[in-house]
Amino acid sequence: MPVYRVRAATLDDIDTLVHHRLAMFAEMGSAVDTAAVGPAFRRWLAVTMPAGTYKSWVAESENGGVVAGGGITVLPWPPGPHDIAGRIAYAYNVYTEPAHRRQGLARTIMEAIHAWCRGEGIGVVGLNASVDGEGLYASMGYRPAASPTMFVSL
Ligand SMILES: CC(C)(COP(=O)(O)OP(=O)(O)OC[C@H]1O[C@@H](n2cnc3c(N)ncnc32)[C@H](O)[C@@H]1OP(=O)(O)O)[C@@H](O)C(=O)NCCC(=O)NCCS
Repeated sequence: MPVYRVRAATLDDIDTLVHHRLAMFAEMGSAVDTAAVGPAFRRWLAVTMPAGTYKSWVAESENGGVVAGGGITVLPWPPGPHDIAGRIAYAYNVYTEPAHRRQGLARTIMEAIHAWCRGEGIGVVGLNASVDGEGLYASMGYRPAASPTMFVSL
């Protein structure tokens, strides 16, 4: 069985994190302008990672190559029926290289996210599940919200 190591991502991982986000959209079948989104996401990471507003984790294979990852932002969130902590985490960019799938890497990344959140007193994590990810998230306790997330482009 291959051995993997999960660690917090650093600025040195930016190329990989950009690759994960673009590959994730491509595999989800979402049309994305990679020439615009790639550099914009890179600039966003260069600001949000040192500021600590975007936190991500990656899994390395035995040879040190990063093969999976995922991250969160922590959002101020008004206390309500599910939680009164005043903030929740939102997860993004969960991606595993095809050759390393179905070995529990995305689950391990999500567990690292959950552990960090618990340590910070954050009791709720949200995400938008892809078709590929839905079963995994459901098995970890995620449920669709009673009221759907809706977006408008202004
Ligand atoms: C979704 C995705 C991140 C899952 O990554 P992964 O590392 O393969 O995930 P895991 O191995 O933790 O779990 C995936 C499945 O493998 C199963 N699995 C885990 N370990 C396993 C093992 N040793 N043997 C067989 N199956 C296993 C899990 O039960 C899970 O099954 P399910 O999908 O039926 O629930 C990956 O498919 C991917 O990158 N897809 C494209 C991008 C994407 O959709 N990202 C999610 C955005 S929300």
